[in-house]
Amino acid sequence: MFSRYKKTPATKVGTDAPAPLAQVSKKTAALEPLDEKVAPPKSKMPANVRPNKTTAARVEPMDKEKRRKERLGDIKVALHKELLDNLNLSALEAATDQDLKSEIQEIVSEALGEMGVVLNRDERTTLNQDLFDEVKGLGPLETLLKDETVNDILVNGPQQIFVERDGKLMLTDVTFKDERHLLRIIDKIVSAVGRRVDESNPYVDARLGDGSRFNAMVPPIAVDGSLVSIRKFKKEKLAIDDLVRFGAFTEEMALYLEAAVSTRLNVIVSGGTGSGKTTTLNALSSFIDNDERILTIEDTAELQLQQTHVGRMESRPANVEGKGAVSQRDCLKNALRMRPDRIIVGETRGEEVIDMLQAMNTGHDGSMTTIHANSARDGVSRLENMIAMAGIEMPLKAVRSQISSAVNLIVQASRLQDGSRRMTSITEITGMEGDVISMQEVFRFKRVGLTPDNKIIGHFTATGVRSHFSERFKMWGYNLPHEIFEPYQG
Ligand SMILES: Nc1ncnc2c1ncn2[C@@H]1O[C@H](COP(=O)(O)OP(=O)(O)OP(=O)(O)O)[C@@H](O)[C@H]1O
Ligand SMILES: [Mg+2]
Repeated sequence: MFSRYKKTPATKVGTDAPAPLAQVSKKTAALEPLDEKVAPPKSKMPANVRPNKTTAARVEPMDKEKRRKERLGDIKVALHKELLDNLNLSALEAATDQDLKSEIQEIVSEALGEMGVVLNRDERTTLNQDLFDEVKGLGPLETLLKDETVNDILVNGPQQIFVERDGKLMLTDVTFKDERHLLRIIDKIVSAVGRRVDESNPYVDARLGDGSRFNAMVPPIAVDGSLVSIRKFKKEKLAIDDLVRFGAFTEEMALYLEAAVSTRLNVIVSGGTGSGKTTTLNALSSFIDNDERILTIEDTAELQLQQTHVGRMESRPANVEGKGAVSQRDCLKNALRMRPDRIIVGETRGEEVIDMLQAMNTGHDGSMTTIHANSARDGVSRLENMIAMAGIEMPLKAVRSQISSAVNLIVQASRLQDGSRRMTSITEITGMEGDVISMQEVFRFKRVGLTPDNKIIGHFTATGVRSHFSERFKMWGYNLPHEIFEPYQG
């Protein structure tokens, strides 16, 4: 038998030999060969795994490559099933990646030999890697998770996986074998974080071990197969300098933002889905002094603050019995008792808005959050709506006055149609005029056209207004050169 780690009927406890990982039975050998040239051993494989000879005979030569790929897929599934069926889980936990890799390599090589299947070197390497990913990792998702250029992974059922690169969505040729395969990977992900997803509990939001944000919805709610969305966690968060270099905003805007954050203005980053809100918030936080105590509250911990004194909190949904939920609002209320200098809420989307505004108004100035909105004005309406939906009965004017005294700055992040992400506006809230919150835009991105290949042409410009906070900046020692407030001259 080939496996050093094979599951033996009685594994002795306390022996020095490593516990077996898996045992692949001879059954595995019962597969059709990859090429017809090789004489097939007598097949004991279930009919649904065996390639259909009648169909195969009708296939054009140009489909040969596709067929070969499909067969390779079948072989992989059979080998994988065997591995899983016979896995010694405790040994697997203890095994190093290298051990597992060489183990799989040995098993594959022996099993292929028994099947009489000939693979070229690339196919063999891919098969080994795929099996390793299946056993240890997240199957087909693993390559996409490792791909540094991918930001988001979006699965629409087993046969359709999109990724987002450079702000653009594109279809990949990565697929799952079928819905069961996809469900198995989803189950693997969610059970690793102590959650469950099934027909009665058909969606889940979680954070993967590497920090990536994970959401899945399974049938019957997901009509055409499970839907999965992954926002990959980037260890190297984009810093202010990177964002300036990428053209997300200008050095002048960065100077202004530095003054705003350092002088403890309350800042809201507004933007659409995936527009770069969290990235902007994270970058802005770098302007906070290292001696301040910062508390962060998020549904999925994504922020990575550079300061020494940071307390991180992550809210928690209810468990399967509907118990144990800890909302962002709970965290926020508690945070107020934890002597914070600043509070950062990853995204304000519900009733926590009340406590956030109160915190901003009562001595925790310099706090920051993000909201989902398409402009500064729209952002204020969102805040009003959230307050109304939290069941607070207050006249609109009082709500607005609360917002206008809490929030000083709204920074708008946008993903433009060419995929680029930019800070399209920086708007100051200056107070109330009658029943209306007054605001003034200080910087904006001005679009002027499109290149033939659909890239946006435009520039950032100051609007020419004098900052409402000029005096404050000066008092805190930030003497911003007045040129940064002069409009773009072309
Ligand atoms: N200016 C930028 N240039 C290039 N990539 C960026 C920029 N800003 C953000 N990104 C990348 O875009 C992706 C989405 O960013 P981010 O998570 O900040 O968006 P978001 O608005 O918070 O999304 P969501 O609405 O899902 O919370 C991330 O992978 C991030 O690294
Ligand atoms: Mg975000």
